[in-house]
Amino acid sequence: MVFIVVTGTPGTGKTVFSEALAREIGFTHLDVGKLCLDRGLTLGFDVERQTYIVDMVGLRRAIRSLKDEDVILDGHIAHLIAPPEYVKMVFILRCHPRVLIGRLKARGYPPEKIHENVMAEILDVCLVEASEVYRDKLCELDSTDKPVERLVSDALAFYRGDVKPRVGVVDWISKLAEEGLLEKYIRGVLE
Ligand SMILES: Nc1ncnc2c1ncn2[C@@H]1O[C@H](COP(=O)(O)OP(=O)(O)OP(=O)(O)O)[C@@H](O)[C@H]1O
Ligand SMILES: [Mg+2]
Repeated sequence: MVFIVVTGTPGTGKTVFSEALAREIGFTHLDVGKLCLDRGLTLGFDVERQTYIVDMVGLRRAIRSLKDEDVILDGHIAHLIAPPEYVKMVFILRCHPRVLIGRLKARGYPPEKIHENVMAEILDVCLVEASEVYRDKLCELDSTDKPVERLVSDALAFYRGDVKPRVGVVDWISKLAEEGLLEKYIRGVLE
């Protein structure tokens, strides 16, 4: 059993990327959010954050019970629930917060939820969490202005060992400060 973990802030393009990569390398694509809902692996709904509370113990058990499959595990908590000993590579999808705001607005997310996700992207939350478990297996991919085909070909180069995986490809704090957007976004002004 081999896992490829695809994580990143909601809206960064994990599912679009995971589906394309799965097709290319013949892995099974597993959407963690869908799995939670399909198997009832939730402990309730957090009204304030407009999100389901995940049953992490049940979810880890469900993932471990997968048999003999090569799986792309896609979700913003995928790096927290995958069994590390079976993980071959962790891709972290990134997206410029301005573009991310557009994607999340298009989904109809409420402003507070967009703000929470924008802050998570600015502060590298998924990268920092994943770094605590995985070191040389991490690879960031910036989807801001790269078509999915390009992301997949970059990912394959890393996966096959032709290119060394890399982290630190984006620095949203410096970029947003340069663009005069940092303070606005921190305050939750998201136009
Ligand atoms: N490489 C890309 N270039 C341009 N747009 C993209 C790209 N990847 C994804 N998108 C767009 O961004 C939006 C979010 O993509 P996607 O659903 O894959 O995100 P996600 O990270 O899986 O989100 P979630 O964590 O909520 O499931 C979609 O509208 C999609 O069309
Ligand atoms: Mg998704």
